[in-house]
Amino acid sequence: MDTHSPARVPEALDRDLLERAGFRPVRVMEAEPVAEAVLALTLDSRQPFAPGAHLEVAVPAPSPTAAPSAAPEAGPDSGPDSASGYGAPATPETGAAEPLIRHYSLCSDPTGATPWQIAVLRHEDGDGGSEWIHSQVRAGDELFVRAPRASFRFRAALPALFIAGGVGITPLRSMLTFADGLGLDWRLLYIGRSGASMAFTRELEAEFGIERVEVWATAERGGRPDLAAVAGQWLREHPTAVVYTCGPTALMDAVAAGLEALPNRVEREVFDPAAAEAASGAGSAGAGAPTTVGPPFTVELADGGEVAVGRDESILEAFSRAGIRSLSSCRRGTCGTCETRILCGEADHRDAVLSPEEQAEQSSMMVCVSRAAGERITLDVKR
Ligand code: FES
Repeated sequence: MDTHSPARVPEALDRDLLERAGFRPVRVMEAEPVAEAVLALTLDSRQPFAPGAHLEVAVPAPSPTAAPSAAPEAGPDSGPDSASGYGAPATPETGAAEPLIRHYSLCSDPTGATPWQIAVLRHEDGDGGSEWIHSQVRAGDELFVRAPRASFRFRAALPALFIAGGVGITPLRSMLTFADGLGLDWRLLYIGRSGASMAFTRELEAEFGIERVEVWATAERGGRPDLAAVAGQWLREHPTAVVYTCGPTALMDAVAAGLEALPNRVEREVFDPAAAEAASGAGSAGAGAPTTVGPPFTVELADGGEVAVGRDESILEAFSRAGIRSLSSCRRGTCGTCETRILCGEADHRDAVLSPEEQAEQSSMMVCVSRAAGERITLDVKR
């Protein structure tokens, strides 16, 4: 007997918190395995989005009685999580769990010609997000999503080489679909361990042809191609082209290594702060997450309350200590989930999400890492 009850997904979540943060329910039209450990979800929305954009998806937090979890997922389509119980810790106000927020790239047509689609890789050794989606979500359910956010820049007027590794195909699929619609000259090199582990290979080859789509299974071809050489060759043949890459950090580093003299010709999906700094040339090798340590200060809340933030804690941690519910995901200043509006005062920005121009505007901040620039700051947060 099928005991799955449709539309039960949001019931385990703190809907009030999510709706105040701009999340909304969207129906799952189809849930279909598309490769080993990869589940594609087709969602009931055709809202256009920027090529390469991603959705934030709310999933129930694992039970506190579950095994200790790994670090939270760091960004779209990536990061560890694990099988465990779900639905806790409950908040005193609602009895609902404070959710995990996970990021998944949209891989459908950005113009809205097809319904939204995401593809979720199952991580069995992480903190539970993808495991919950694989084991619990079915057609007819609802997901709570906040949509869509653009973090992977697409330059629509230039020829493009796309280099994908594994589930890194997802943002690149929306980009190449858009590029093809514009009539741009583009190619895809899609690398994975084996054909069975790679999503959408047949669809891509059938839709765009093998002259544009090269599928490279390392187990069958004796390893990875020389990515620096591939990218360099493409740029020699297409002097104005851009190379877009998404996948494991080692793969993206290999692509960038061949283009060190042309850093503005490479776009990569970066969610790790150290990698972001390295990619921009601003950081030192081996740099880790940004420090949240600094002088103590006070956060004034929109409802007149106050929260003291100590020297060794983040605003997010201080909110949690004070019983203020808030959303977060990476807690490293790289995903944007905890972005909070500044009502008065200025932030000492330490994130890798806002551009220098956005940081200078002082209209919002990432409360997982950034601090007040002075002794007080007022944020659009209520108890
Ligand atoms: S939780 Fe990801 S930027 Fe703060």
